[in-house]
This record gives sequence, structure tokens and C-alpha cells, in this order.
Amino acid sequence: MKKIDTSTSINGIKLPLCIMNASGALCSTNKELSNLLNSSSGGVVTKSCTYKSRKGNVLPRYFEWDLGSINSMGLPNYGIDFYLNFLEKKTIDKPIFLSISGLSEEENYFLIQKANQSSKVTAIELNLSCPNLIEKENMLGYDFDKISNFIENIFKFNKKPLGIKLPPYFQDIHIKNVASILNQFPIFFITCINSLPNGLFIDTNKESVVIRPKGGFGGIGGAIIKPFALANIHKFYTYLRKDIPIIGCGGISSGKDIFEHILCGASAVQIGTQFMKEGVSIFKRLKKELIFILEKKNYSSLNSFKGKLKNFQ
Ligand code: DHB
Repeated sequence: MKKIDTSTSINGIKLPLCIMNASGALCSTNKELSNLLNSSSGGVVTKSCTYKSRKGNVLPRYFEWDLGSINSMGLPNYGIDFYLNFLEKKTIDKPIFLSISGLSEEENYFLIQKANQSSKVTAIELNLSCPNLIEKENMLGYDFDKISNFIENIFKFNKKPLGIKLPPYFQDIHIKNVASILNQFPIFFITCINSLPNGLFIDTNKESVVIRPKGGFGGIGGAIIKPFALANIHKFYTYLRKDIPIIGCGGISSGKDIFEHILCGASAVQIGTQFMKEGVSIFKRLKKELIFILEKKNYSSLNSFKGKLKNFQ
């Protein structure tokens, strides 16, 4: 039997396995990050950080049901220095993606400059899509007029591989516009999609919302968002420059889901809600399930089918 290769490369960054955690899921504390470093994930993504440490929104702020999850965390994190100091102390054998989510454009420039100085950060994942901030309702990912100028400023000084985490888009023209902006810059990768913003989950018995912040509204993740993730990945794969890889995120809980993300054009994938449910043992399970599918289909690597989704026939 042929050896099946589930490793991948994000623009030259080698991941021993194409599966990693999504930012936000079990990647905030010393313990969580140590667990991820010791796991068989192909890379580690850190919780989106700000300059100062933040407590985040009031509890309860996360809820999951069989088809998905809703969260309004409000960017709780220990501040960028905590994450950089944590990494400094560790021996690291896989790529580290430092997620940053400054509260203003200026804060993002500062965070990127700091990240540039750390040899332990393989790449920056710049988050343009946090939907849960009480103090800041708009997100840059939906502000088409501002994105271009913002990214242009970043590449005046940035020296590290830098990718962008995008929110989901629901119109073809929006993806075309964002892709044509990103195509003008040396973007290292994109990650799509973040949670679907402003969803509402209801407890019918209690006739109530299930999380406290913002009247119960929050970002939706998990199985229920997979069709939107696949659509965004496939459209970006069509419109982006071919040398900008896509990290797929959204609705993955099985090897079959990973196969579909890659078929749409993803070069690697991230797991959020299902990683919250299962913990670090998920990476081995998903790898096994993915290999099982590739064996059946007689594919020896991701490149055999990446982006090759067929039209209806
Ligand atoms: C949070 C949620 C997100 O979807 C995100 O991208 C960043 C932060 C949060 O609420 O903490």
C-alpha cells in the first residue's frame, strides 16, 4: 500500500500534519498552549491577543449544542507579552501562528511590530473578524473601504509571514472585492472563515437566550456553518492569486469534513468547536479518518485533490 502524506506547506511553512486548532479554542492559557505543543496537531494557533490583558465579556459566554456553538467571549486574553514570553521559554517543533486582534489599526501595527521581534513566532494570523466586542461594533473584515489602506501600511514595515483571518462573506461580489484587495499585497495566507456573527440560540424550555453578553447574540461555529466555510474557501480559491494558500476553518468534526475543505481549495485546516468538545486527542482521530478516505480514493497526498471540486455532472 502507498504511504499517505497528510503533511502540508503553507507558502513554505512546513506543517507535519495539515490539521491544527482554530484561534480561540483551548489556546489561551499556559496549560492549554502546552497541551497543544505536546499534541500531534500540525501547528499551534494562539488566542487572539491585544496589547493589554483583557477579562472579556461576562459569563456565561460560550454554549454548545449538537449542531454548533455560540460564543461572545469578548477577546479575553493575557496580552501579547504573555504569549511571546510563553513561546520564548519553550522548545518548539512545529509552526506557531500568533493570532493578533488589536482594538484599533494603530494597536495592530504595534502588535505586528512586537511579533516581528520574536524568533518563536513562525507567522502572524491577523484577525480582522472578531464579532463580539461591546466597545467596537464594526469589524475591519467588513469595512471594504478601510482594508486596503490598513494592509498597505502593514507591509511598509512587516517582515514576518503574515496571514489574514477573514469573516464569512455572503455575496460573490464581496469575496471578489476582498480577494482583489488582498491580491495586491504579499499576504502569506488567508484563514477563512471566522464564526458567523450575531447568531442567536434559544433554550425553548426557559424561553431564554443561552449566553449573557449582548442580549444572547454571538458568533456561531461548528457543524452548522460548514456550507458557508466551504463556499468562502472555494470562492477565495477562485479569486485569490494562486500563491496565496487558504487555511480552511468552519464546521470540521470528521476526516470527511477535512477532505471537503481541501477539495474546495484549503491547504490546511483549523478546528474550533469540535476541538473544544474533544480536546487534543482530536488531531489523531481526524488524521486517521482523513487517511482512511484517501486510501479508499487512492490519493497519496493533499495535492492530488486540492481545489479540484467538480461542477455538477
Ligand atoms: C473572539 C471571537 C472571535 O470570533 C474572534 O475572532 C476573536 C475573538 C472573542 O469573542 O473573544
